[in-house]
Amino acid sequence: MRASGVYTFHREMSPVYHQDFKEWELTDMVVWVTGASSGIGEELAYQLSKLGISLVLSARRVHELERVKRKCLENGNLKEKDILILPLDLTNRSSHEMATKAVLQEFGRIDILVNNGGVSQRALCVDTSLDVFKELIELNYLGTVSLTKCVLPHMIERKQGKIVTVNSMVGIIAAPLSTGYCASKHALRGFFNTLRSELATYPGITISNICPGPVQSNIVKNALTEEVTKPTGSTADQSYKMATSRCVRLMLVAMANDLKEVWISDQPFLLMIYLWQYMPTLAWWLTNKAAKRRIENFKSGVDADSSYFRSVKKKHD
Ligand SMILES: NC(=O)c1ccc[n+]([C@@H]2O[C@H](COP(=O)([O-])OP(=O)(O)OC[C@H]3O[C@@H](n4cnc5c(N)ncnc54)[C@H](OP(=O)(O)O)[C@@H]3O)[C@@H](O)[C@H]2O)c1
Repeated sequence: MRASGVYTFHREMSPVYHQDFKEWELTDMVVWVTGASSGIGEELAYQLSKLGISLVLSARRVHELERVKRKCLENGNLKEKDILILPLDLTNRSSHEMATKAVLQEFGRIDILVNNGGVSQRALCVDTSLDVFKELIELNYLGTVSLTKCVLPHMIERKQGKIVTVNSMVGIIAAPLSTGYCASKHALRGFFNTLRSELATYPGITISNICPGPVQSNIVKNALTEEVTKPTGSTADQSYKMATSRCVRLMLVAMANDLKEVWISDQPFLLMIYLWQYMPTLAWWLTNKAAKRRIENFKSGVDADSSYFRSVKKKHD
């Protein structure tokens, strides 16, 4: 299962997965997680803290990072000195060099950079201010590229390191109401696939693109709408989404095995990625059909995600 091609994870895992988890390979590593104050990044901090590593937790909200750190110390296998809280705004690119230096000063090296921080979008393109598109590119794409560029020279010097980026299934497929978010994630996928090719002479440096489908988190609540200053604030049901703990466990499998790209999703969302990859004409037709219903729900004020996806999932189950 090591390191080539695309791997897909869903509810029924093959037995190969259990043999290849290799979580011990992550032990003793210095892991820097962005977006560690909530959702996938927060859960990643909890699961990593059980492995005996040095952990750097970054995001903008320091009090939330402190909460995550306390929980890591209570339930994990780490001591106070093993966790560094490092406030970071991905859009403040001029601060990234200093942040990288701070990690190196504290732990002497960076073995794994997990580019996880990001924001989504729920709005029709036609109604959306250009500032929203700018913010999504600044944060999801340029912020991630900037931090990666700060860490990369250090990994090149050591000839080793893992750069793991939480992309999305919408880095591969289209998702109506998320034109700017999709564009930022497609851009990231192109960037990291190309960076991997530039690093071909450094086989010790690996690039993993993690592409989850819907996962329980605050992503929809924090998603931008027509204006940058107006997140959805949605508190809609998330029971149709994959549990955060499950997604993160599969991410650890990908990290331990240096997998180049993984699709982590329950059905029927996983099927849509396959169709986009292998049968695009059918995928375009199905996406247009689905878009009509999703946009109707959105316009009538019904939560576009939970009402649409729950009904699709129910039909599939
Ligand atoms: N949940 C899903 O269904 C799903 C599916 C596919 C991909 N993803 C991807 O997973 C990643 C994590 O999202 P999530 O689902 O865990 O959502 P979440 O619960 O909203 O967490 C987002 C994280 O990003 C951080 N963040 C936001 N703006 C930032 C900024 N300017 N600078 C630094 N950090 C910032 C937030 O921290 P602060 O607010 O404290 O800064 C928070 O820790 C994202 O890249 C998202 O695109 C999620």
